[in-house]
Amino acid sequence: MTLQLGVLISGTGTNLGAILDAIASAKLDAKVRVVISNRPDARGLERAKKSGIPTLVLDHRAAASREDFDRSLVQSLKAHGAEWIALAGFMRVLTSTFLDAFPGRVVNIHPSLLPAFRGVDAQKQAHDYGVRVAGCTVHFVIPEVDAGAIIVQRAVAIGEHESLESLRSRILVEEHIAFIDALRLISLEQVQLVQSTDGSTQVRFLSPSEPGR
Ligand code: GRF
Repeated sequence: MTLQLGVLISGTGTNLGAILDAIASAKLDAKVRVVISNRPDARGLERAKKSGIPTLVLDHRAAASREDFDRSLVQSLKAHGAEWIALAGFMRVLTSTFLDAFPGRVVNIHPSLLPAFRGVDAQKQAHDYGVRVAGCTVHFVIPEVDAGAIIVQRAVAIGEHESLESLRSRILVEEHIAFIDALRLISLEQVQLVQSTDGSTQVRFLSPSEPGR
């Protein structure tokens, strides 16, 4: 299916760029209906405009509450026909107000091998800890931060004297691949969210021939 995507950003937008490039080269069956940033200075907005994608800035600082901000996000995304939401370097925590409007259809890219190093600056957490392998995770978003069911992960071996800057850029390269791989699995309907008996959700991978029902 052609994913009708809404993409949320906060910064450089390189993951957005990877999505747009994959669509342009027919590597991803999706249409970006709108790009919304919570920050007016996000460079990703320029990348979206270059591709003729509608853009919007909803400054979270102007919202009366986190729920109000989420409600305005939902309204804008639905008004542009977005059905799936990709958080591409989006730095705000979304509440159930938002997530309930797109049940099981919000995915996020996080720059660590979850469940390790949740939260901000995961690359620096990993580098400071001294792990020998880092990476990134694409996962479904649930109210608990960086805790939803995992779709794709990609690993990066850390060099003995590797700088944090080098690690960041090498993880970012893998993010761009992982995000497209995850969105492609979703568009091909080869990924299903299933509810476990304990209420948690797991990802079930369907073979191309297996019906998703
Ligand atoms: C990436 O490392 C992403 O994982 C994190 O923000 C960084 C920038 O992403 N959330 P982008 O270049 O704005 O897509």
